Amino acid sequence: MAFPEGFLWGGATAANQCEGAWDVDGRGPAKTDVTTGGTVDTPRMITYRMPDGTEGAMPQWGAKLPEGAKYAVLDNYLYPNHDGIDFYHHYKEDIALFAEMGFKQFRMSISWSRIFPKGIEDEPNQAGLDFYRSVFEELKKYDIEPLVTMWHFDTPLYIEEELGDWKNRETIALFDKYARTILTEYKGLVKNWLTFNEINNTVSFLGMMVPASDEEFQDAYQHLHNQFVASAHAVKMAHEIDPEYRVGCMICGVVDYPLTPDPDDILANRYMWEKSLFYCGDVQCKGKYGTYAKRLWDEHNVHLDITEQDLIDLAEGPVDFYTFSYYQSSCVTTHQGAETTAGNMTIGAKNPYLEASDWGWQIDPKGLRYILEVMYDRYEKPMMIVENGLGAFDELVEGEDGQLTVHDPYRIDYLREHIKEMEIAIEHGVDLIGYTTWGCIDLVSAGTGEMRKRYGFIYVDKNDDGTGSYARYKKDSFDWYKKVIATNGADLD
Ligand code: BG6
Repeated sequence: MAFPEGFLWGGATAANQCEGAWDVDGRGPAKTDVTTGGTVDTPRMITYRMPDGTEGAMPQWGAKLPEGAKYAVLDNYLYPNHDGIDFYHHYKEDIALFAEMGFKQFRMSISWSRIFPKGIEDEPNQAGLDFYRSVFEELKKYDIEPLVTMWHFDTPLYIEEELGDWKNRETIALFDKYARTILTEYKGLVKNWLTFNEINNTVSFLGMMVPASDEEFQDAYQHLHNQFVASAHAVKMAHEIDPEYRVGCMICGVVDYPLTPDPDDILANRYMWEKSLFYCGDVQCKGKYGTYAKRLWDEHNVHLDITEQDLIDLAEGPVDFYTFSYYQSSCVTTHQGAETTAGNMTIGAKNPYLEASDWGWQIDPKGLRYILEVMYDRYEKPMMIVENGLGAFDELVEGEDGQLTVHDPYRIDYLREHIKEMEIAIEHGVDLIGYTTWGCIDLVSAGTGEMRKRYGFIYVDKNDDGTGSYARYKKDSFDWYKKVIATNGADLD
């Protein structure tokens, strides 16, 4: 049996994509609340208002807010994250379904602006604290361990707009306050934490879709540095507050391969791994920047504000375990004219050996084994895959028992093949301790804002136009995953 006893099977979500209740019980807005829906071909838009009242919208990636503009929720636009799947009011029902599947672990995030609506308040919002306490208590009833992400792309909008977001060092202290609050509040209810979701996206994705200036790279690397320091503080704080706490990093695990054996492609691929994967993982796991960091900064004339104390803090706050998301792989080449392919926060050269999902993400189970083995060898820390899954179109139909359901063999196939590779990696010595599939219940897509890009074992009746009853239905994959968990991964049929 490859999977160790106590293996943490489960599923993952993020507050902004599932909770809804965006302005309920004192919650403040985040960027996701001024982001509209999109599709695979049309980008999500961010809406704003000019001082003279003129309204506008700009694409989510690569555009800058016009001088003087303020983010704004406008009439005539649809903001899918406002309602999410209304987990805020359905969490008891949802957790009962997770328990029925046998979840050992549920990954979720805390919305920072539910706790500190603007991020700058001295006192936390009690209603926000109470909500997460109720969720954790509900999980405890079923012996499901929460795995809690502190930040899942949702800085309070006030910090983003008025303070300059993460490129301002002041944000570190505001995050420290938030982290201390939740680490203190939920002692005894939570054991495992993650600091920043897919922290590496800030730099690895920059310049891929739309060219980026040196100034943007400067801001992005500074943003990351400040998050590294905040993450190290959170790790130290967690260990002081409760020695039982374990804190992990969370990296967007896009695997790249060289497209050709041309030595230039081999080198370009290595440099891609350094930039997009090792840069963040090294700082968070080893407590210091890798040797190649200076080369990456020099490429864009970046000069970082790094204090002596920052270096001490980084060295004192390495994470306890390594986690990552994994959906797909792509290729790197220096050759002109190669066909490109989209992916999770990435764009790369198309791999002729792989099939792709309906959203063009190349499906590559062996890539999961590859990254597990490389990263375990590099850091020798326990690992978790905290996102993996297939975003697909699902059709709600009447099942044999007369209940509405979804027949989703494509999802089962995808997950089965990835779990098989996890098993091999464990046999090869990787200390893999957990697996939470992404969007275990359907939720709003981060990339496109769609509902119809569904990942869940549980179908949620909500449509892209905002209509729907929010009723939950079990898909075929629900029973399949239940069996996988019950047999600790031995029965994947
Ligand atoms: C990761 C994020 O990038 O991938 C999630 O951590 C996101 O928030 C997931 O939802 C899948 O991406 P998408 O665009 O299909 O929602």
